[in-house]
Amino acid sequence: MSVHTQSTRMTTTRLRQMKQEGEKITMLTSYDYTLASLVDAAGVDTLLVGDSASNIVCGNQYTLPITVDEMIFLSKGVVRAAKHALVIVDMPFGSYQVSEEEAVRNAIRILKESGADAVKLEGGEEILPAIRHMIQAGIPVCGHLGLTPQSVNQFGGFGLRAKEDKEAAKLMHDAKLLDEAGCFLIVLEKIPARLATEVSKAVSCPTIGIGAGAGCDGQVLVLHDMLGLNQGFKPKFLRRFAELGSAVTQAVETYVSSVREGTFPSADESY
Ligand code: KIV
Repeated sequence: MSVHTQSTRMTTTRLRQMKQEGEKITMLTSYDYTLASLVDAAGVDTLLVGDSASNIVCGNQYTLPITVDEMIFLSKGVVRAAKHALVIVDMPFGSYQVSEEEAVRNAIRILKESGADAVKLEGGEEILPAIRHMIQAGIPVCGHLGLTPQSVNQFGGFGLRAKEDKEAAKLMHDAKLLDEAGCFLIVLEKIPARLATEVSKAVSCPTIGIGAGAGCDGQVLVLHDMLGLNQGFKPKFLRRFAELGSAVTQAVETYVSSVREGTFPSADESY
């Protein structure tokens, strides 16, 4: 009897095939079991436990403070929820920059303890040795170029990247290096649409854009942003597919007034 069962889980091979067949890839961030279950059931291809959890879950201004332990804690719930989607976990700032050995050790820890499928790292040529070591160790790696929020202090803000020819040429060079090293995906964040299209054509692995136009092989958004839960954040690239922030406020206001007025709980809601 075969020990293999039919699986509908997304794989890195299938993602590459989707690019070849011109089928767009979907990715959303997730940080907890309940929302990840809804997102997975709605048919998204990949769930990203982004280090944007530092902002969205923890209320930090930047992604830099979140730790490997915190990423593992959040990822466990997302992995339990994912019946179909491939789960990618961001390696947090400081967990892969010190040495290749430390990078591989942290990536292995993240995958072993969370049960996730892959890791994502920000950067190009500078972190290529770490990426190569991880791929040699059998770890699927997703790259991330353009606006890389872990380098916010170096960039001095969250503006559009690679507007100038020199930075655009470096980004193209980095994308080719990541592709040749064996990255299974590359996230392109906040770069001109024309450059993202050129990069997507130049590399064999799929590209996933955020603020990078329609020429990428897929798209990613931060879940809380696209659901309208993160109301203060309104960059040009963001489309809100729902207004859950105002729905939550309205529901909570109604609950508070119902309790205060004595209309909740009713007799039907009591034992
Ligand atoms: O951390 C994150 O949410 C991300 C996406 C914006 C791609 O890296």
